[in-house]
Amino acid sequence: MIRVLFVCLGNICRSPMAEAVFRARVREAGLSDDFEIDSAGTASFHVGKPAHAGTRAILAKHGIGCDHRAREIVRDDLDRFDHVVAMDGQNRSDIEALGGGRAVISSFLEHAAGLGVRDVPDPYYTGNFAEVYALVDAAAIGLLARIRPAARGLK
Ligand code: 4NP
Repeated sequence: MIRVLFVCLGNICRSPMAEAVFRARVREAGLSDDFEIDSAGTASFHVGKPAHAGTRAILAKHGIGCDHRAREIVRDDLDRFDHVVAMDGQNRSDIEALGGGRAVISSFLEHAAGLGVRDVPDPYYTGNFAEVYALVDAAAIGLLARIRPAARGLK
């Protein structure tokens, strides 16, 4: 089982979108039984809330559901998950500041080659959920390609 946690600031816009898109790609690849997928935020302001309406709308447009409720990342997540994937550099430093853990921490857009952008822009401020979806979609495919052989090997 490969456990993957996507992390942003509020856990209502970017990381629930990444979680939902990655889960859809995993399902299409027939690998649902090999993965546990979740998301969390580095901040607690929105704990318990559903994803932002903009995130739910763009996912729905692409035929993907989202029933995630926001939660805050805890130190234990860095031991529970194999991969912790940050949406931007600030998220990544905040995750690393929790300290230790066995999870491999990465930045989401590292997994998509040639995008020319390092951070997933925050649609909470930009309002551009379509731009974020395109980046998330590219990186989800890249991340799955990178970690799926390991999932196969553990079967
Ligand atoms: P997210 O976006 O980190 O992609 O979920 C944000 C959501 C809420 C806030 C900031 C960013 N906020 O300040 O409330």
